[in-house]
Amino acid sequence: MGARTADAAPHGETSSIVIRPALAEDAEAIARVRVDSWRETYRGMIPQAYLDAMQLETSRAMWEKVLAAGSPAVGVFVAERGTEIIGFSSGNRLAQPKHGFDSELSAIYIRREFQHAGIGRRLVAQIARSQRALGASGLIVWVIAGNKAARTFYERLGAELVIEQPFQWDGMDLVEAGYGWRNLDALTADLPGVPPSDTVLQ
Ligand SMILES: CC(C)(COP(=O)(O)OP(=O)(O)OC[C@H]1O[C@@H](n2cnc3c(N)ncnc32)[C@H](O)[C@@H]1OP(=O)(O)O)[C@@H](O)C(=O)NCCC(=O)NCCS
Repeated sequence: MGARTADAAPHGETSSIVIRPALAEDAEAIARVRVDSWRETYRGMIPQAYLDAMQLETSRAMWEKVLAAGSPAVGVFVAERGTEIIGFSSGNRLAQPKHGFDSELSAIYIRREFQHAGIGRRLVAQIARSQRALGASGLIVWVIAGNKAARTFYERLGAELVIEQPFQWDGMDLVEAGYGWRNLDALTADLPGVPPSDTVLQ
């Protein structure tokens, strides 16, 4: 792992960022991070009209439902700085394994000013830990093929490229890449300098 520098996150102080299981009342903040991040990340990758039409309220309602349901198979974690949620990740067990992977990292989004400071790695680690605690042995994630930054991130975390394939999202024709970890050991290992609170499972 490369050294983290103060430049990595202009807001500074990322060691004070806590990763914790999400609560139902986090739904709006999670939705806000997701909508903002989609608009920033996927500009030029998916149709602009779709990004413009995204509704915070629709996303909030969806996350509230997920969090209130509290399914044991689903894990959602937030990265919090003070009282502000600056990123989140979610994952779930797959009843039917995909390409031999029995759990899925279903979302990970971090506000731009906090990227490149090790928070993504911590958020993936929490999903891997919580899914392993549920009995999972592997983890797969799907990324829009043109999202080179995220692809590099998964590669740096040791994922293998499993497949690239066309897919449909809300009627849009896109190409996705699947990356997977067949073994969760490296992902779940303790990270230097990371607070013990990160090991709290959902
Ligand atoms: C992709 C994302 C989750 C990565 O999180 P992050 O906190 O920025 O990543 P980290 O700081 O934990 O980086 C972990 C490793 O990935 C590398 N990495 C992260 N982003 C990278 C990028 N854009 N280009 C190259 N390498 C990158 C880091 O250098 C680091 O490698 P190292 O530890 O070997 O030095 C985050 O940048 C993000 O939210 N992006 C926008 C939304 C998105 O694309 N989500 C994924 C949808 S599938």
